[in-house]
Amino acid sequence: LYQLLPQDKSKPPMVWHWIPVFGSAAAYGQNPIKFFFDCREKYGNVFSFILLGRRVTVALGPEGNNFVLGGKHTLLSAEDAYTHLTTPVFGKDVVYDCPNEMLMEQKKFVKFGLRADNFRAYVGMIEDEVVQFMNNDASFRIWPMNDINEWGTFDVLHAMSEITILTASRTLQGKEVRSQIDKSYAQVYADLDGGFTPLHWLLPNLPLESYRKRDAAHKKISDLYIDILRKRRENPSDEQEHDMIASLMNQKYRSGKILEDHEIAHIMIALLMAGQHTSSASGSWTLLHIADRPDIGEALYKEQVENFLQPDGTWRQMQYEDIKTLPVLDSVIRETLRMHPPIHSIMRKVREPIPVPRTLASPSEDGTYVVPKGDYVFSSAAVSQVDPRYWKNPMEWDPSRWIDPEGMAAQAYKQYDDENGAKVDFGFGLVSKGTESPYQPFGAGRHRCIGEQFAYLQLGTVITTLIRRLEFRLEGKFPAPDYNTLIVLPKKPRNIMYRRRKFD
Ligand code: HEM
Repeated sequence: LYQLLPQDKSKPPMVWHWIPVFGSAAAYGQNPIKFFFDCREKYGNVFSFILLGRRVTVALGPEGNNFVLGGKHTLLSAEDAYTHLTTPVFGKDVVYDCPNEMLMEQKKFVKFGLRADNFRAYVGMIEDEVVQFMNNDASFRIWPMNDINEWGTFDVLHAMSEITILTASRTLQGKEVRSQIDKSYAQVYADLDGGFTPLHWLLPNLPLESYRKRDAAHKKISDLYIDILRKRRENPSDEQEHDMIASLMNQKYRSGKILEDHEIAHIMIALLMAGQHTSSASGSWTLLHIADRPDIGEALYKEQVENFLQPDGTWRQMQYEDIKTLPVLDSVIRETLRMHPPIHSIMRKVREPIPVPRTLASPSEDGTYVVPKGDYVFSSAAVSQVDPRYWKNPMEWDPSRWIDPEGMAAQAYKQYDDENGAKVDFGFGLVSKGTESPYQPFGAGRHRCIGEQFAYLQLGTVITTLIRRLEFRLEGKFPAPDYNTLIVLPKKPRNIMYRRRKFD
């Protein structure tokens, strides 16, 4: 009934709900994108809703993205929003369990590891892992599949999750982790992963089995990395390692303090968790779209043939530099991330009352909304990336919009630039940095993803290794998105049919 009383005009409008405390949890949880679009219809770009006792204020559109991601970190805190979820999983003293300045330094250490000479070494390793997976995985045997007319079928998320962890561990995580993957590590990883869910964000500590398993798994994995570090120090090898552990060893903060072993271990866990679901979900959606559009599968194959097939019929090994020069591959990944950004809501917690720019939303001609201290603020690239205000036919998966200079995206950008004084970076090229862009699958601003180039390398190599050897078709209907996990995944059934290419 309190909702019928006159509302405080300085606060953004509150979404109507029937059950106090529970609020709009069901509508948001089932389909946040629909919920946000529906609310925008009723309340405008900025509105608040109740999510299991928390007040959340949502800011939509490029300007909303800018409000949340371009805001001062002293006012809008990522660590206050995430630490209760991430610290039990990643561990102490890293990422959101340390002052923001320390995270910025840790990101710099990681960036040092994500450098071109390491990436050059990764392409062959990733290709090798994908081929091994195709040979060995029970759900995905193509050899011996001699009859080229024979179709097999596989669950795309299963395949992509396996391929992602195998390729990430072979490259970033290092050979010791890779050698454990098929053994004890898989179960421990699964237990840790079980603690990284929306429930754990909402209720960080419950006396439940999954919480106990999460804590035990964190300890085991952390000890594993610390053991690897100890052994590497005891027996330094002459062989140059290209993994992240090697890059993080001996790093120092500006203060002169060394990066301690437990911090390296916890950063390694954070990277594992940051990359695993985001990349496996993106790989799955990419393959589903390719299977749904055989013409684009063929365009990808043709691009490979033109660039890498040698006169003797063997494939030239793709190089890191090549990946940036393949427009079909690039646009296929870019377009998939537009329609399926793995993270649908980016969150910050408000430390001081913060006024909403009047151009974004305001209660009246001369009034201003103020988001109160203690609110969570959400931005959603998943909304701006399919918003018909910025994209033509936004629900159509059309990679060509990224290639054709006269194409839909180019037109949409121009229109947006004209209306907004051409201040928007739309992310052409490998990296987009603008906080006021409708296209932000990797976030923007201070907390922007540093894994983007690795993700492109990993996804690009996985997709091309598969496309050189296989054709794909969708087995049933295109799967709907499941929003009940932290990362948006395709719902079951999500089977893809595949067949060996004639000229492999
Ligand atoms: C941050 C998306 C892969 C490491 C982020 C953010 C997004 C994102 C949206 C911003 C979060 C925020 O502002 O709250 C993605 C997508 C990926 C991907 C779509 C793959 C398709 C990776 C990989 C790594 C990684 C492979 C590591 C190798 C990080 C790190 C941050 C981050 C360290 C910074 C967190 C911060 O500063 O608060 N990612 N990511 N990501 N991501 Fe990624």
